[in-house]
Formats: sequence, C-alpha cells, structure tokens
Amino acid sequence: MTQPDLSAQPSTPVRLTETAAWKALETHHAQVEGAHMRELFAADPTRGERLTLEAAGLYLDYSKNRVTDETMRLLLDLARETGVEAKRTAMFAGEKINTTEARAVLHTALRAPKGAVVMVDGKNVVPDVHEVLDRMGEFAEQVRAGTWLGYTGKPIVNIVNIGIGGSDLGPVMAYRALEFYSDRKLTLRFVSNVDGTEFTEAVHDLNPEETLFIVSSKTFTTQETMANAGSARQWSLTALKEDAAVARHFVAVSTNAQAVQAFGIDTANMFGFWDWVGGRYSMDSAIGLSLMLAVGPDRYAELLAGFHEMDEHFRTAPLEQNMPVLMALLGLWYDDFFNAQTVAILPYDHYLSQFSAYLQQLDMESNGKHVTLSGETVDYQTGPVIWGQPGTNGQHAFYQLIHQGTKLIPCDFIGFSRSLNPLTSALGEHHDLLMANVFAQTEALAFGKTLEQVKAEGVAAELAPHRVFEGNRPTNTLLAETLTPHTLGAMIALYEHKVFVQGAVWNINSFDQWGVELGKVLAAKIVPELAAETEPPLAHDSSTNALIRRYRQQRRG
Ligand code: F6P
Repeated sequence: MTQPDLSAQPSTPVRLTETAAWKALETHHAQVEGAHMRELFAADPTRGERLTLEAAGLYLDYSKNRVTDETMRLLLDLARETGVEAKRTAMFAGEKINTTEARAVLHTALRAPKGAVVMVDGKNVVPDVHEVLDRMGEFAEQVRAGTWLGYTGKPIVNIVNIGIGGSDLGPVMAYRALEFYSDRKLTLRFVSNVDGTEFTEAVHDLNPEETLFIVSSKTFTTQETMANAGSARQWSLTALKEDAAVARHFVAVSTNAQAVQAFGIDTANMFGFWDWVGGRYSMDSAIGLSLMLAVGPDRYAELLAGFHEMDEHFRTAPLEQNMPVLMALLGLWYDDFFNAQTVAILPYDHYLSQFSAYLQQLDMESNGKHVTLSGETVDYQTGPVIWGQPGTNGQHAFYQLIHQGTKLIPCDFIGFSRSLNPLTSALGEHHDLLMANVFAQTEALAFGKTLEQVKAEGVAAELAPHRVFEGNRPTNTLLAETLTPHTLGAMIALYEHKVFVQGAVWNINSFDQWGVELGKVLAAKIVPELAAETEPPLAHDSSTNALIRRYRQQRRG
C-alpha cells in the first residue's frame, strides 16, 4: 500500500472546540436554545421565503430550523475558521486529502465534462474517465439492442449486479430511483449479502442462457462479493457447461485487473476505475454499469450532468449561499450543540425507497470517526446515525416518536411537484395527497399544538397533555420539479458534499473506513473454525467460543 502522508490534508490549525467560532456558538446556543420556531416565524413574516436556496434544480427550504440569522452567521464563521474553503479547493484539485490511504478524492472528476482538466500525479484523468464511459456506453447499447448474445446465442435479458457496500448501494438505489426510465424488457437484480438466500432467490426464476452477471468490486477481494461471484459462475456453468461461456455472461467492474483475470473474466470485459474513487463515492464510476444498462447511456449522461451542476455550485457558490454547506452546518448545529444523535431522511417518492439506505453508507462510513486527521481523540460529536424510509409509510410507523418523543430528530423531507405516475383516486390526486403530507408534517413538527390550543378544542383536561405537540422539531424540505436522472445526480452530489463539509469542520478523514476492518479479519479467522471436520482449538473469549461450539453442533442438523 502507498505510504500515508498525514500532513497532506489541510488540517484545522487549532482544536475545534478551542476555535473562536465554536466558543461563540456555545454561548449563542445557551441564549437561543429555548427559542421556539413559533416566535422566530412570528418575528419575521418573510422567514419562509428568506431562508431558502435554489441550486441545480433543487429548492431547499431551511426556514423550519432552530436558527436565527446570528446562528447562521456563527456557523458560517465556524466553516471559515476551520478552513472549509481551502479543504474544498484541495479536494477538487486532486490533493491527497485521504491521508491515511495517501489517495486523492476525486469523485467529482467522474462527472467532469469531456475537455475538463483534472490532474492526479501530473496526469489529466478526464480522458480516462470518458474512455471508460464510452466503452460502458457501447456495451450498454449492445445489451439493450439484444446484440450482445449469451453463449448459446440468446440475447441477454437478465442482469445481476454482484457487489456490496458502495458497489451495491449506489447502483441499487439509483436503479430503483430511475426505474421509470428503465428498459422494462430487462430484469435487473442485485446480490450483495453473503447469505446464500439472496443469491438463490435472485436467480431462481432466471435462465442462465439469458443472464449476465456484473461482478462489481473495487478491490475484487471482498469476501461477500467473491463468494457470490463464485456461486454465480458455478450456476452459469452448470447450465452452459463450457468455461468459455464465462466471457459472454460475466463482466467485471474493478480497479484490480489482476484479480479480475485470476477469477477468469477476460479483462476485455472489465470496466475500470481508479484508487481516487472511494467505494461509497463510486456509483457514477463504472460501478454504475447496471444502471446504465437499465436506463441507457443518454439518461446516464443526464445523471452525470446533474452531479456536475451540483459540484459546480458547491465549488463556486459563496458559503452563505451554498446548499451543501448550509445543510452541513445545520446538521452540525444539532449534532454538536443540541446533542442530536440521528438524522431522518424522509423521501416522499416511492422511487427513492433505497435513498436513506444509500445515505447510511455515504454518511456513516465517511464520518463515523473518533479521531482527528492528526490522530487525536475528538471531544465533540462527529457523524450522526442516518435512517429513514419513504413517506407516507414512515408516518404510520415511527413519526409518533419524532413528534412527541423525548429525542430531537432533525429530518430532511424530500418531495417533487410533479409525479411520474399521476393517478386520481376517489379522495383526489394521489400526488396531492402525498405532498400534502410533506407540508403538513413539517408544519406540525415546527409549530406543534399548545396546551391552550388543545383545551380550546374542548379536549378533556386529563387527556390534554397527551394531545400536546411541543413542536420546535427541525426539518429541511428539499423540493424539485420532478424526479429525473439530472435531479437524482444533483441530490446525491448534494449529500456527498454535505458529508464532506461536516468532515472538514470536524477535522476528520471522511474518506477512509478502517472501522470495517476488525470484523472482517476476525470473520476470516472464524470461517475455518466453523467448517473444520474435527473440533478445532478455540482461543476466543468464553462467549465467542461457546457460540461457535453451539453453532458447530447444530449446523449439520
Ligand atoms: O464496507 C467496507 C467497504 O470497503 C466499502 O467501503 C466498500 O464500498 C465495500 O466494502 C465494497 O468494497 P469492494 O468494492 O472493494 O468490494
């Protein structure tokens, strides 16, 4: 591995909690903590129009947050004092800001237009990016046109992406998000879990003669993916008999040509990317091949254009009008000063069913860190727990706690003004019913219902406390016209940069993931202990030893 260079990323010069801006925010927090959004809105009738921002087709309303103009000013001071602008410049310039892995962080180069120049180690990487995109496009056209034939001469109609983490969550989320634009002749499946059930269920109704596997793995060493890829090859070859069939039914997406070759996939059928693309930032690299097959190269290009427009906004807009920056600072305000532990992502669009699962990896693998760039333990909260599911389903499950529970849960509501599937019911337009809930929920969360209001409704005194809504629950609302590839690209880039800004302020490395290593190493050690013919000597703790023994006794039934 390349030697880490821990001095390569611009680091915050003083400890975060010692900065003037942090101290000012602490004092300010004590003053405004009790302020209610009812008062903030009453004091400024223009607040709902003023605290808004538009970028790359997205409208952000951040007025329903527990902030004053002074809060925003101080948060922006914090961003400036912690060097967010310099860190942003360093990222876009290809500096090796992933210091523990000595890597540049250039997912933004994946959506740079042809002709742009992004230098890594003295080389412009944009032509390489477009060379891969062009090859992906040619391949996708062949499959979509039915001219890429399986080994027995049948066109491919089933595509199974095998990958995990960043090699799965992005493609599956984006495929579901853009299913409206997909070619319905093709069946797309995604296999990630090493649990054999997932693979078995994914292929049980597929014909191997018509099925293409995309083995997606940056490293091409990930246990889950390699196990599933091996089982896929066995499943294919059991039906197709000849090893030569692999060339027609398997393609790879990876940075590791050697391992791809060793697996038996011709590198002519490999789509590459680079070590300056982190796994969770890779969905618009060749890792997006399954999506491109589903929606076609033109729609894929629209997605990249959406990413790029948000990149440009993030790169050039002043901090106070910068959407990712504002969302990051608002999140940090609750995380660090109100001690909020989680953030709920609530998309009011069925197509975005996987969006919060995708953001879990993006955010939690990036900012789930406990030491600064220079290795000191932080004395403040870093990344929050990300969770959520699409509305309105969540309203009938967990919103009760958001409205009346004891925890502060900042929420992002995401909605669209036009449905891709307009439908009228006896109760009205489905989309109006859906969106009415977005506006109602954010209104209810912000303003609540006082005891006086409840009593005025004639509610019995003993019941009244149960019917009170404190309100003052913060929300952002993101509204776009309609869910297009462009909008989706812009939304993903928005969250990527939000995560970046928070990591920059927290002075952590948002681009490594050492926290997933220990479990992997221990599992590799335990696998042979589970499968050994004779009782192996076990040297774990007493709990792990006992669990392994019990499993061994029961595993054969
Ligand atoms: O979960 C750890 C991780 O390394 C992620 O960062 C990555 O997205 C995933 O595993 C899959 O890795 P690969 O693409 O190399 O198989």
